[in-house]
Amino acid sequence: MKTWDVVIIGGGVIGLSLARSLRHSGASVLVVDKAEPAREATHAAGGMIAHCDPGNPPALARMIAASGRMYPQFIAELRAEAFESPDLREDGTIAFPGDGESPACKGARSLQDEELLQLEPLIALRGRAYFMPECSVDPRKLASALEKAARKLGVDFVTGSAVTEVAVLGGRVTGARTAKSFYMAAAVVNCAGAWASQMKPFGMPTRPVKGQMVCVVPPAGVHTAGPLIRHVVRTPDLYIIPRSDRRILLGATVEEAGFDKHVDADTVQRLHQAAIHVVPEIAQMRIHDAWAGLRPGSPDGLPILGATSLPGYYAATGHYRDGIMLAPLTAEVMTQLLKGRSPDFDMTPFSPLRFL
Ligand code: GLY
Repeated sequence: MKTWDVVIIGGGVIGLSLARSLRHSGASVLVVDKAEPAREATHAAGGMIAHCDPGNPPALARMIAASGRMYPQFIAELRAEAFESPDLREDGTIAFPGDGESPACKGARSLQDEELLQLEPLIALRGRAYFMPECSVDPRKLASALEKAARKLGVDFVTGSAVTEVAVLGGRVTGARTAKSFYMAAAVVNCAGAWASQMKPFGMPTRPVKGQMVCVVPPAGVHTAGPLIRHVVRTPDLYIIPRSDRRILLGATVEEAGFDKHVDADTVQRLHQAAIHVVPEIAQMRIHDAWAGLRPGSPDGLPILGATSLPGYYAATGHYRDGIMLAPLTAEVMTQLLKGRSPDFDMTPFSPLRFL
């Protein structure tokens, strides 16, 4: 019977990043996903690496800053391993922060109207604005590159089958069970996002937090070299994310709606109108599609990272709005933990033990 050092439950951006990182450190790894990898929150995500956002949880500030710094190298490595480009865009963010908020990073600077116009001539919004040295990626392409890199490195995958139980014998983990199979491993990591609670003998207290997004594209027959705007644009109510293939994403709602992933026409219209208010030329663009994803929220809004009370059972989930941004750092610190090394960060505030 084949055995692995680590079974990872869930092939979203966190599970995939961790699988790749563990494999680099020499561990044998199996990823088990209830469907195809990265079809849930990762597929729906905008992909802003928003390490300067004043709305980020203060308790996460150091980790967010470190993960943001890791991104260019993380993407460069992935490109080399997978020969795929996750559309890393490094033009930066133009942000209109809320009252009393100011950017939380080095290199951010306040913009006068003249410079704002020079940087992004199509922005019609005026007021207190900042340039922030952030980047963005296309999370779907990122996940595709991560999966390809992981497979090339020798990570195994089982898809279309949900892990329902972490198997235990003599008080420690022996593997993971799906409805039909058992996968033997010394360690199991719950990376199941909004589904992380659905596990025996116990899950992690995540809940789905719905986000609806809209994608607009240039009208047929309009050919431009790049997207309408170069920068990510963020206001307190909306973000606008350009992709190099000229799509523009508009997001996102934050809804407590259980596992519902329906998109409603009113919300699509509201997001479209809000974007037109910021960049009037978006009115000329065509709504291409809209979707909803389920972010993994946690009771205190912080990720759930580390060992549980059951020897061999770990969690890396609950990243809420920050899964894409925190993926490289999560993979690094979880690899350190699983390898029995002290992580570079104090992980106590994120320990699963705070809930168990
Ligand atoms: N990270 C963006 C969002 O959650 O909407």
